[in-house]
Amino acid sequence: MGKGFFLSKGVGVLLIICGAASVATIIALSVVYSQEKAKNNEVSPTNGGSTTNPPVTTPAPTTSNKPWDQYRLPKTLVPEHYNLMLRPRLTPDETTKLYIFTGESSVDFKCVEETDLILIHSNKLNYTKAPTLESVNPAVTAPNINKYWLQKVTQYLVIELDAKLKKDHMYRLSTDFVGELADDLGGFYRSEYEEDGVKRYGCCNNSMQPTDARKSFPCFDEPALKAVFNITLTHPQGTIALTGPSLGNKLIQTTFAPTEKMSTYLLAYIVSDFDFVNNTIDGVLIRIFARKSAIAAGQGEYALNTTGPILKFFEDYYNSKYPLPKSDQIALPDFNAGAMENWGLITYRETALLYDPEFSSNGNKERIATIIAHELAHMWFGNLVTLRWWNDLWLNEGFASYVEYLGANYAEPDWGMADLIVLNDVHRVFAVDALTSSHPLSSKEEDIQRPEQISELFDAISYSKGASVLRMLSDFLTEDVFKMGLRTYLKEFAFGNTVYSDLWKHLQDAVDNTPLPGLPNTVADIMNTWVLQMGFPVVTIDTASGTVTQKHFLLDPDSEVTVVSPFKYQWTVPIKWMKTGTEQKPVWLVEKSETVDMMKATGTDWVLANLNVVGYYRVNYDQSNWNKLLNALNTNHSVIPVINRAQLVDDAFNMARAKIVSTTLALSTTVYLDKERDFMPWESATDNMDFFYLMFDRSEVYGHMQAYLQKQVIPLFNYYKAETGNWTKDLPGHLDQYNLVNAISLACKTGHKECTDLAKGWFEMWMNNPAKNPIHPNLRSTVYCNAIAAGGAKEWEFAWAQFTKANAIEADKLRYAMACTKEPWLLNRYLEYTLTPEKMRKQDATSTIVYIANNVVGQALTWDFIRARWTYIFNEYGGGSFSFSNLINGVTKRFSTEFELKQLRQFKEDNADIGFGSGTLAVDQSIERTISNMKWIEENTKTVSNWFQEAIKPL
Ligand SMILES: *[C@@H]1O[C@H](CO)[C@@H](O)[C@H](O)[C@H]1NC(C)=O
Ligand SMILES: *[C@@H]1O[C@H](CO)[C@@H](O)[C@H](O)[C@H]1NC(C)=O
Ligand SMILES: *[C@@H]1O[C@H](CO)[C@@H](O)[C@H](O)[C@H]1NC(C)=O
Ligand SMILES: *[C@@H]1O[C@H](CO)[C@@H](O)[C@H](O)[C@H]1NC(C)=O
Ligand SMILES: [Zn+2]
Repeated sequence: MGKGFFLSKGVGVLLIICGAASVATIIALSVVYSQEKAKNNEVSPTNGGSTTNPPVTTPAPTTSNKPWDQYRLPKTLVPEHYNLMLRPRLTPDETTKLYIFTGESSVDFKCVEETDLILIHSNKLNYTKAPTLESVNPAVTAPNINKYWLQKVTQYLVIELDAKLKKDHMYRLSTDFVGELADDLGGFYRSEYEEDGVKRYGCCNNSMQPTDARKSFPCFDEPALKAVFNITLTHPQGTIALTGPSLGNKLIQTTFAPTEKMSTYLLAYIVSDFDFVNNTIDGVLIRIFARKSAIAAGQGEYALNTTGPILKFFEDYYNSKYPLPKSDQIALPDFNAGAMENWGLITYRETALLYDPEFSSNGNKERIATIIAHELAHMWFGNLVTLRWWNDLWLNEGFASYVEYLGANYAEPDWGMADLIVLNDVHRVFAVDALTSSHPLSSKEEDIQRPEQISELFDAISYSKGASVLRMLSDFLTEDVFKMGLRTYLKEFAFGNTVYSDLWKHLQDAVDNTPLPGLPNTVADIMNTWVLQMGFPVVTIDTASGTVTQKHFLLDPDSEVTVVSPFKYQWTVPIKWMKTGTEQKPVWLVEKSETVDMMKATGTDWVLANLNVVGYYRVNYDQSNWNKLLNALNTNHSVIPVINRAQLVDDAFNMARAKIVSTTLALSTTVYLDKERDFMPWESATDNMDFFYLMFDRSEVYGHMQAYLQKQVIPLFNYYKAETGNWTKDLPGHLDQYNLVNAISLACKTGHKECTDLAKGWFEMWMNNPAKNPIHPNLRSTVYCNAIAAGGAKEWEFAWAQFTKANAIEADKLRYAMACTKEPWLLNRYLEYTLTPEKMRKQDATSTIVYIANNVVGQALTWDFIRARWTYIFNEYGGGSFSFSNLINGVTKRFSTEFELKQLRQFKEDNADIGFGSGTLAVDQSIERTISNMKWIEENTKTVSNWFQEAIKPL
């Protein structure tokens, strides 16, 4: 998937666009073959049929060694082919009042080991008649079914036979079933939206990853059990003349051409009444689907424009033709993750695919380009070649999260966005990976069994650390060698499955075929130190002696690492570096400590390591070298590359938290900012100041900090005021546009009156004339937020009224900004709205709660709210959701008192029986973070307060 924070997912095998409440044309799409085969057989609608449920067993004792109590399938049967017919009902069933779908499925499988037991995944499906088993070869007879039942916990349909299936014979299992078309955003699900005041059921979206295909039809639901799928959908035929909720009584049956051999989690079928825009590039049909109003407004055009070039980029990068004849991408009104890489039918949140110059910021646009690149990268890496099991998810997601920057940079070369991986991924994941509750990238296959264990892997470590270490690998191998290994890997394993070491092997072959300047070890040996142990090192360079040492970097130096590492927390570290502004020959740090004579620096010479932050580690120096670096920043900061200016700030602040350097040293790295105009260092500084805000916005330090930051940001604010001709002109540069937002956000946050007046003035102009919004799309989030924070109920109600009629792009900005109000009663009411689906889409609930918690006034309200509603949230939003860890981390990140720690522990205890699902690890991370925050505040408040007071004294 795309990231859920940004999670992405994948598989579109089939897409039927079918008419719903007020019905329009029906279009059937085959994902995999170019010619789709719509038979257009009219069939009359029938009822779902009565249900005869097989018995359902009670939860199994965890100690059971029965095959059906194991989460992994036995290795006895291998599917080859599915025939699947599905029929979603767009009106509720008369008796049960449920929205349902009915299905018929047969699967041809081969017996590879004799057995008298068939286990096939099935979740929340009811069987309407007894399953039947036949032999595909008429000369062989199939055993009879003795009995069958549903094993609820492990999600199986279990079939016991009266005799053994014979090795190497093919059998066919046929089932008729019914399932609920729920609005739970998982599997085959229902989605409702309104257009022109008419409620529409854009029914039957689809989200299978990781383990929800089994909610749609019985299947061998493991990524290595690839098969070919023949799929037929029955759906209502709409006529444009028809309005209102009537569906008419005509049905259409659409049969798709067989898919390529593929994993179940990458399947997709969708029924909706959407429109599309299309193009054909080198024989590949590209279509962008969205609700009619969005397509009519031209919002699919940017995605259509960028998809072709990005596909061509990846064909070249992988040296492999796009494996399918078409590439469909669809924007869904309800979607949990950011996007999902279904093969040939990629699904997105509306805001991740639709662009509208009138509403979208440049950040929205960049997100679209990067998510498209991420998902298209999966078409090969992930879909064509698939990791055998979910424990290697990090390689799939880390890879796509790395090359998304390359693909997007190719589509938008003027943006200069490739380096942003340092802020978005490397710095971001450092924060998590510096905790003792982190985990290695790679997990053991046997440790990842249950669906929630799989879901839990969709985290920052898999995505961002995966991306960071692959970027480092590509850098020290050189991109050419990296591509060479990648290409032979994809070629060897096309339509098959792999483990991560298969990629290392191919990269090693590429290395062996190229005269590379020596690596200190094999690719596998180097990479294992990054993949098989959690965390990362801080490399310390003593420029007096030239000694270079490494140590496991822990945010809390007193925390205890209880997990034993096979490498004793030592890494094989590639070091690119410069001396006094001139790049030097890279070195490797293999041992705990080594001496590099070249790194001695005397006089005015200084050393700067981890150039452009291609390495996944932090760097510390002796005090004298730090002083020289600070001096360089303050006198002529451009001698230090811009990415490393961002690095110096981020490393210093984090090493200060880890008590490796002093907090005053960290604060000193911000002194030069009044002269800095580049985005990356400012962004790095504001990210780190966020922590100071979280720790101090309830304390006396706050005032001094505000005064200091205001002093630092005013020159930037004035610079942009001049550059934009007093806020009237657009800036050309993409990163400049970002930094302009930083300038306004921080100036307003620190209470700079000119800034607040500006925001209030713009917002008031809009309130006076709602039809004409005068605020530039890039500035809307921050201007709305500041105007609402400065205002009261009137501003808030106006924003809410706009929100209820806004398109998805605009709605996201308002949704964020409404969390900025300082009125507790408005925040409390807003919290209630988050759990009211008529007011807010389920997909947006958790992120809105986190926005409210970010507000110092909302913090305590949110925590009370979460604790009071945990059971409800967990049950209602837990199903298809990947965002529990974001929710828990988000709501607790300000925690820094004994009392909050106690409450957090109590919360963990009180809900032990319900659990925390994919947020389990986040609870422990939050406890660890709270303890470390408490210590930090105790040790630093005085120093920090004094430092700010000194820094704002007039000279
Ligand atoms: C499946 O059967 C259960 C138990 O009888 C029932 O509660 C549920 O509503 C059924 N689901 C569907 C979609 O018919
Ligand atoms: C799948 O569909 C193809 C073409 O429509 C057909 O030739 C093939 O027999 C089908 N496979 C099975 C197992 O029914
Ligand atoms: C776009 O779709 C229309 C309708 O299906 C088709 O007639 C047209 O040829 C397509 N255009 C391209 C460039 O693929
Ligand atoms: C898409 O490309 C066309 C042709 O190059 C261009 O005119 C149009 O402005 C582009 N649209 C967007 C939204 O980028
Ligand atoms: Zn992905």
